[in-house]
Amino acid sequence: MTLEQKIRSKQLTVGIVGLGYVGLPLAVEFASKGIKTTGIDVDQTKVKSINAGKNYIDDVDDEKLRSLVKKGSLQAADNYNSIGKLDVIFICVPTPFTPNKEPDISYIVTATEHIAKRLRKGQIIILKSTTFPNTTEGYVKPILEKASKLKVGRDFHLAFSPERIDPGNKKWTTANTPIVVGGVTPECTQLACMVSEFVVSKVIPVSGPKVAEMEKLLENIFRSVNIALVNELAQLCDRMGGINMWEVVEAAATKPFGFMPFYPGPGIGGHCILIDPYYLAWLARQHDFQTKFITLAAETNENMPFYVKTMIEREVSKMPTSLRAAKIFFLGVAFKRDVDDTRHSPALRVMEILHADGAKRLSYNDPHVADVKINGTRFTSQKLSAAALKGADCVVITTDHSSYDYEFVVSNAKRIIDTRNATKNIKKNRDRIVLLGDGV
Ligand SMILES: NC(=O)c1ccc[n+]([C@@H]2O[C@H](COP(=O)([O-])OP(=O)(O)OC[C@H]3O[C@@H](n4cnc5c(N)ncnc54)[C@H](O)[C@@H]3O)[C@@H](O)[C@H]2O)c1
Repeated sequence: MTLEQKIRSKQLTVGIVGLGYVGLPLAVEFASKGIKTTGIDVDQTKVKSINAGKNYIDDVDDEKLRSLVKKGSLQAADNYNSIGKLDVIFICVPTPFTPNKEPDISYIVTATEHIAKRLRKGQIIILKSTTFPNTTEGYVKPILEKASKLKVGRDFHLAFSPERIDPGNKKWTTANTPIVVGGVTPECTQLACMVSEFVVSKVIPVSGPKVAEMEKLLENIFRSVNIALVNELAQLCDRMGGINMWEVVEAAATKPFGFMPFYPGPGIGGHCILIDPYYLAWLARQHDFQTKFITLAAETNENMPFYVKTMIEREVSKMPTSLRAAKIFFLGVAFKRDVDDTRHSPALRVMEILHADGAKRLSYNDPHVADVKINGTRFTSQKLSAAALKGADCVVITTDHSSYDYEFVVSNAKRIIDTRNATKNIKKNRDRIVLLGDGV
């Protein structure tokens, strides 16, 4: 049976390499469509957890995962032995940057090498990890072809289809967010689209992997640039005084066309928006091109934790204490609202740079994050009690989790630095609040 026949008759088997924020929800979607799905991850804790029916990703329904594993539709392995039995293999491994902010595609390369050794005719490999244009054709394809002696388009298929999942977003999920697919050949595109249509409501084919790789970077860099714009304006509003940047954005957002609201904050984090501008800048340099505008936006956003640190220092300097002695209590260390992901979290960055500068009485609360390491020191989430708020010289709202009772926070804290406009609906005790982008 050809791959197309297997897809049409739903007799295909799917493998997902990398069972993190992207891979596990995708695996659960395929398994819940009645397709036998195997997850592969080098992290044995994740593999054991799945095989025991235990979920570890907020976006995945605990009960759904448990029943899929029990039924045998979903299983996980810490090795690549099953590759030969799979028809479709998605690669969802990390794409971080190096300490010098250059792309690190070593996870893609390693995963591809493991697959290449076991590749057989008729399979399709779909790369989902965010990466720079030409990764699929310039890196993945040669590894697969060389080790297997098979040829893409003739013996097996290869496509790039970037992931768009927004962890914590209840409205837009894996199932209802359209995705883009670019195959190495038209048939690769067609087959990758057919496979994706099992789990995604709308699939948009493009002319090839490079367009799909570039469009994903455009999506994320678009966010980076627009967030940098409002972060710069927020600093200007602070400097001028008397203009609330949040109100400015809300007012501009009443324009029904040509404007899209973005909000200031303590910086950007996560595994995408912070990293992706550097992936493109690195590639551009190879073509004697400097992505000045994009790099400036990334720098503006990376400066925001330093800006928040300055806000904290300014408030502490008005108190009968020093930065070293001040008790600073952070609310929220996840990189954004209602998630447990702390990768490149701006909140952690603020804590790190304060800690490095001698501020040692730092503490935090985060309902989603039990503990963190700041410059090698372990901190555990503290109870968000009236006593903890009252005891702090300064409370900094770094992540606006929706479970927080902001009225309770403001009524108990002496001084609040709000970097997210989380206290916008609080009417009482506003004189205690210093809002980023409000000129106070
Ligand atoms: N998290 C998001 O919101 C998001 C959204 C869109 C795109 N992406 C992109 O998707 C990719 C994956 O991101 P993520 O957030 O799921 O990462 P993650 O760190 O949550 O998960 C990646 C998984 O891959 C595993 N892994 C690493 N090397 C492996 C190997 N050689 N073989 C098998 N497994 C391996 C890791 O153990 C981990 O479980 C990245 O390129 C990211 O930029 C992420």
